[in-house]
Amino acid sequence: MEEKNLKELVGRKAASLVKSGMAIGLGTGSTVFYTIQELGRRIKEENLRFRAVPTSIDTEKKAKSLGITVVPFEQLEKTAIDLAIDGADEVDVELNLIKGGGGAHLREKRIAYKAKKFVVIVDGSKLSDILGSFPVPVEAKREKWESVKSELEKIGAKVSLRVKNGEIFLTDNGNYVLDAKFDFILKPARVESMINEISGVLENGIFRKEKVSEVWVGTGEGVKVKK
Ligand code: 5RP
Repeated sequence: MEEKNLKELVGRKAASLVKSGMAIGLGTGSTVFYTIQELGRRIKEENLRFRAVPTSIDTEKKAKSLGITVVPFEQLEKTAIDLAIDGADEVDVELNLIKGGGGAHLREKRIAYKAKKFVVIVDGSKLSDILGSFPVPVEAKREKWESVKSELEKIGAKVSLRVKNGEIFLTDNGNYVLDAKFDFILKPARVESMINEISGVLENGIFRKEKVSEVWVGTGEGVKVKK
Protein backbone atom coordinates (compact mmCIF):
# COMPACT_ATOMS: atom_id res chain seq x y z
CA MET A 1 0.00 0.00 0.00
CA GLU A 2 1.17 3.57 -0.68
CA GLU A 3 2.50 5.70 2.19
CA LYS A 4 -0.47 8.07 1.90
CA ASN A 5 -2.92 5.17 2.27
CA LEU A 6 -1.07 3.79 5.29
CA LYS A 7 -1.23 7.23 6.90
CA GLU A 8 -4.95 7.30 6.21
CA LEU A 9 -5.42 3.80 7.62
CA VAL A 10 -3.69 4.54 10.91
CA GLY A 11 -4.92 8.14 11.12
CA ARG A 12 -8.56 7.16 10.83
CA LYS A 13 -8.24 4.17 13.15
CA ALA A 14 -6.76 6.35 15.91
CA ALA A 15 -9.96 8.39 15.94
CA SER A 16 -11.70 5.35 17.49
CA LEU A 17 -9.79 6.07 20.72
CA VAL A 18 -11.77 9.25 21.30
CA LYS A 19 -14.82 8.92 23.55
CA SER A 20 -17.51 11.48 24.37
CA GLY A 21 -16.57 13.75 27.27
CA MET A 22 -12.83 13.54 26.69
CA ALA A 23 -10.40 16.43 26.36
CA ILE A 24 -7.83 15.48 23.78
CA GLY A 25 -4.62 16.87 22.31
CA LEU A 26 -4.77 17.03 18.55
CA GLY A 27 -1.44 16.76 16.72
CA THR A 28 -0.18 18.24 13.48
CA GLY A 29 0.68 16.79 10.09
CA SER A 30 -0.55 14.67 7.22
CA THR A 31 -1.29 11.57 9.34
CA VAL A 32 -3.30 13.39 12.01
CA PHE A 33 -5.13 15.10 9.14
CA TYR A 34 -7.03 11.83 8.67
CA THR A 35 -7.75 11.56 12.39
CA ILE A 36 -9.28 15.03 12.29
CA GLN A 37 -11.36 14.10 9.24
CA GLU A 38 -12.64 10.95 10.93
CA LEU A 39 -13.43 12.83 14.14
CA GLY A 40 -15.44 15.30 12.06
CA ARG A 41 -17.39 12.38 10.61
CA ARG A 42 -18.02 10.87 14.04
CA ILE A 43 -19.32 14.21 15.37
CA LYS A 44 -21.85 14.36 12.54
CA GLU A 45 -22.84 10.72 12.31
CA GLU A 46 -22.34 9.39 15.85
CA ASN A 47 -23.01 12.54 17.87
CA LEU A 48 -19.52 12.27 19.41
CA ARG A 49 -18.81 15.17 21.78
CA PHE A 50 -15.32 16.08 23.00
CA ARG A 51 -12.92 19.04 23.30
CA ALA A 52 -9.55 19.33 21.63
CA VAL A 53 -6.43 21.39 22.32
CA PRO A 54 -4.73 21.87 18.93
CA THR A 55 -0.95 21.65 18.60
CA SER A 56 -0.82 24.23 15.79
CA ILE A 57 -2.77 26.98 14.09
CA ASP A 58 -3.12 24.69 11.07
CA THR A 59 -4.75 21.94 13.14
CA GLU A 60 -6.94 24.49 14.91
CA LYS A 61 -8.32 25.69 11.56
CA LYS A 62 -8.94 22.17 10.30
CA ALA A 63 -10.61 21.12 13.57
CA LYS A 64 -12.89 24.14 13.70
CA SER A 65 -13.94 23.67 10.08
CA LEU A 66 -15.22 20.19 10.98
CA GLY A 67 -17.15 21.26 14.05
CA ILE A 68 -14.64 20.13 16.69
CA THR A 69 -14.83 22.16 19.93
CA VAL A 70 -11.42 23.77 20.31
CA VAL A 71 -9.78 24.72 23.63
CA PRO A 72 -7.06 27.33 22.96
CA PHE A 73 -3.50 26.20 23.62
CA GLU A 74 -3.22 29.05 26.15
CA GLN A 75 -5.71 27.16 28.37
CA LEU A 76 -3.60 24.00 28.45
CA GLU A 77 -2.51 24.51 32.05
CA LYS A 78 -6.10 24.37 33.33
CA THR A 79 -7.09 21.46 31.08
CA ALA A 80 -6.63 17.79 31.95
CA ILE A 81 -5.77 15.97 28.72
CA ASP A 82 -7.16 12.42 28.59
CA LEU A 83 -5.48 11.50 25.33
CA ALA A 84 -3.09 13.07 22.83
CA ILE A 85 -2.78 11.76 19.27
CA ASP A 86 0.08 12.90 17.05
CA GLY A 87 2.39 11.84 14.23
CA ALA A 88 6.18 11.55 14.32
CA ASP A 89 9.14 11.86 11.97
CA GLU A 90 11.20 9.03 13.45
CA VAL A 91 10.51 6.30 16.03
CA ASP A 92 13.23 4.06 17.48
CA VAL A 93 12.83 0.51 18.81
CA GLU A 94 12.34 1.77 22.38
CA LEU A 95 9.68 4.28 21.18
CA ASN A 96 11.75 7.43 21.56
CA LEU A 97 10.71 9.92 18.90
CA ILE A 98 11.88 12.78 16.75
CA LYS A 99 9.07 15.22 15.93
CA GLY A 100 8.79 18.73 14.57
CA GLY A 101 8.98 18.19 10.83
CA GLY A 102 6.15 20.71 10.69
CA GLY A 103 7.79 22.96 13.27
CA ALA A 104 5.01 22.43 15.81
CA HIS A 105 7.04 20.45 18.34
CA LEU A 106 6.91 22.99 21.16
CA ARG A 107 3.13 22.87 21.51
CA GLU A 108 3.13 19.19 20.58
CA LYS A 109 5.46 18.37 23.45
CA ARG A 110 3.66 20.52 26.03
CA ILE A 111 0.42 18.71 25.18
CA ALA A 112 1.84 15.18 24.82
CA TYR A 113 3.83 15.34 28.07
CA LYS A 114 0.72 16.48 29.97
CA ALA A 115 -1.60 13.84 28.48
CA LYS A 116 -2.67 10.77 30.47
CA LYS A 117 -2.14 8.76 27.32
CA PHE A 118 -0.02 9.71 24.28
CA VAL A 119 -0.60 7.70 21.11
CA VAL A 120 1.72 8.20 18.13
CA ILE A 121 0.55 7.35 14.61
CA VAL A 122 3.00 6.61 11.79
CA ASP A 123 3.53 4.53 8.69
CA GLY A 124 6.38 2.02 8.65
CA SER A 125 8.81 4.42 6.91
CA LYS A 126 9.23 6.29 10.22
CA LEU A 127 10.66 3.30 12.14
CA SER A 128 14.41 3.03 12.76
CA ASP A 129 16.71 1.17 15.14
CA ILE A 130 18.45 4.23 16.56
CA LEU A 131 17.31 7.88 16.27
CA GLY A 132 19.37 10.07 13.96
CA SER A 133 18.06 9.65 10.42
CA PHE A 134 15.86 12.72 10.84
CA PRO A 135 17.39 16.03 11.99
CA VAL A 136 16.23 17.21 15.44
CA PRO A 137 14.17 20.39 15.07
CA VAL A 138 15.20 22.99 17.66
CA GLU A 139 12.96 26.00 18.26
CA ALA A 140 15.15 28.98 19.16
CA LYS A 141 14.71 32.65 19.98
CA ARG A 142 15.35 34.64 16.80
CA GLU A 143 18.03 36.85 18.34
CA LYS A 144 19.94 33.82 19.62
CA TRP A 145 19.88 31.51 16.60
CA GLU A 146 23.54 31.93 15.69
CA SER A 147 24.82 31.14 19.18
CA VAL A 148 22.39 28.21 19.46
CA LYS A 149 23.72 26.92 16.12
CA SER A 150 27.31 26.96 17.31
CA GLU A 151 26.41 25.25 20.62
CA LEU A 152 24.60 22.50 18.69
CA GLU A 153 27.67 22.08 16.47
CA LYS A 154 29.81 21.69 19.58
CA ILE A 155 27.75 18.66 20.60
CA GLY A 156 28.23 17.07 17.17
CA ALA A 157 25.32 18.21 15.02
CA LYS A 158 25.33 19.56 11.48
CA VAL A 159 22.92 22.47 11.74
CA SER A 160 20.82 24.44 9.28
CA LEU A 161 18.37 27.26 9.81
CA ARG A 162 14.98 26.16 8.47
CA VAL A 163 13.84 27.98 5.34
CA LYS A 164 10.45 27.55 3.66
CA ASN A 165 9.46 28.98 0.27
CA GLY A 166 12.65 31.04 0.22
CA GLU A 167 12.00 32.66 3.60
CA ILE A 168 13.17 31.86 7.12
CA PHE A 169 10.53 29.59 8.63
CA LEU A 170 8.69 31.03 11.64
CA THR A 171 6.88 28.82 14.16
CA ASP A 172 3.37 29.56 15.42
CA ASN A 173 5.15 31.11 18.40
CA GLY A 174 7.17 33.50 16.18
CA ASN A 175 10.54 31.76 16.61
CA TYR A 176 13.13 30.18 14.29
CA VAL A 177 13.81 26.46 13.83
CA LEU A 178 17.31 24.99 13.56
CA ASP A 179 17.47 21.46 12.14
CA ALA A 180 20.26 19.61 13.94
CA LYS A 181 21.45 16.43 12.23
CA PHE A 182 23.28 13.93 14.43
CA ASP A 183 24.82 10.72 13.07
CA PHE A 184 22.92 8.79 15.72
CA ILE A 185 21.41 9.54 19.12
CA LEU A 186 22.32 6.83 21.60
CA LYS A 187 20.77 8.44 24.69
CA PRO A 188 17.72 10.40 23.54
CA ALA A 189 16.65 11.60 27.01
CA ARG A 190 20.16 12.92 27.69
CA VAL A 191 20.39 14.72 24.33
CA GLU A 192 16.87 16.11 24.81
CA SER A 193 17.87 17.80 28.05
CA MET A 194 21.33 18.85 26.81
CA ILE A 195 19.78 20.73 23.90
CA ASN A 196 17.19 22.43 26.10
CA GLU A 197 19.94 23.65 28.42
CA ILE A 198 21.42 25.80 25.61
CA SER A 199 20.59 29.46 26.15
CA GLY A 200 18.04 30.61 23.56
CA VAL A 201 16.52 27.17 22.99
CA LEU A 202 12.79 26.99 23.66
CA GLU A 203 12.17 23.32 22.82
CA ASN A 204 13.54 20.48 20.73
CA GLY A 205 11.89 17.62 18.88
CA ILE A 206 13.22 14.64 20.85
CA PHE A 207 10.37 13.01 22.79
CA ARG A 208 11.59 10.47 25.34
CA LYS A 209 10.07 6.99 25.45
CA GLU A 210 8.73 7.41 29.02
CA LYS A 211 6.16 9.88 27.66
CA VAL A 212 4.98 7.68 24.79
CA SER A 213 2.17 5.26 25.64
CA GLU A 214 1.77 3.52 22.30
CA VAL A 215 2.92 3.78 18.70
CA TRP A 216 0.39 2.71 16.08
CA VAL A 217 1.96 1.72 12.77
CA GLY A 218 0.03 1.56 9.51
CA THR A 219 1.17 -1.50 7.55
CA GLY A 220 -0.03 -3.52 4.57
CA GLU A 221 -1.41 -6.04 7.11
CA GLY A 222 -3.35 -3.44 9.10
CA VAL A 223 -2.49 -1.31 12.14
CA LYS A 224 0.13 -2.74 14.51
CA VAL A 225 0.39 -1.39 18.05
CA LYS A 226 3.77 -1.06 19.80
CA LYS A 227 3.88 -0.46 23.57
C1 5RP B 1 4.84 18.26 13.13
C2 5RP B 1 5.15 16.86 13.49
C3 5RP B 1 4.46 15.78 12.74
O1 5RP B 1 3.78 14.98 13.62
C4 5RP B 1 5.47 14.99 12.00
O2 5RP B 1 6.21 15.88 11.14
C5 5RP B 1 4.84 13.88 11.16
O3 5RP B 1 4.10 14.44 10.12
P1 5RP B 1 3.35 13.57 9.04
O4 5RP B 1 2.21 12.90 9.72
O5 5RP B 1 2.90 14.61 8.03
O6 5RP B 1 4.31 12.60 8.43
O7 5RP B 1 5.93 16.56 14.37
O8 5RP B 1 5.61 19.16 13.86
